[in-house]
Amino acid sequence: MILGLTIIILVFGVIIFLSISFFIGIFGGGPFVPTPFPAVHKVLKAAKIKKNNKLYDIGAGDGRFIHFASKDYQANAEGFEMDPFVFFLAKMRQKIFGWQGKMTYGNFTKKSLKDADILICYMMPETLAKFQKKFDKELKKGTKIVSYAFHIGNWKPKKIIPKEGKISQIFIYEV
Ligand SMILES: C[S@@+](CC[C@H](N)C(=O)[O-])C[C@H]1O[C@@H](n2cnc3c(N)ncnc32)[C@H](O)[C@@H]1O
Repeated sequence: MILGLTIIILVFGVIIFLSISFFIGIFGGGPFVPTPFPAVHKVLKAAKIKKNNKLYDIGAGDGRFIHFASKDYQANAEGFEMDPFVFFLAKMRQKIFGWQGKMTYGNFTKKSLKDADILICYMMPETLAKFQKKFDKELKKGTKIVSYAFHIGNWKPKKIIPKEGKISQIFIYEV
């Protein structure tokens, strides 16, 4: 009886958790689609990160960008993630596999990006276009923005690294 009740509560809990995640994906900034690892390394190399640079991934998913930015480049990396399920996954990656970087739960639009040296994004172009105003207002001169696969609004990229096999285009901007 107690076991049956526990299973029902657990199943309902998981369904509610996944439904929240689904609706955030649809009506929020888009679903969690992880960047393939070879592309993660290419994006980070393109960002030319210096030790202690403040690097944000504005929709960090499972935290892969901030992990490798911290581990391989000693960046001061922080990722925002507003989907509770995906955030939980990122925290598990850190607990179980020792992934590095600071994961912050919540909507990045509520946070100031004033201290960013580097911004990493992988989001749909229509979502990025909505954030352009915030970027224009808050990012300091010299901040690099590296966007995987999609361009940002009407910004003019400093460089575009072309698609290579399964790795999509990389857009590099500088404020
Ligand atoms: C396409 S995934 C990319 C994940 C990760 N950056 C990667 O490249 O593997 C985009 C992620 O951004 C999150 N997201 C979208 N809008 C957001 C916002 N305003 N604040 C925080 N996270 C957001 C989504 O929940 C999703 O997990």
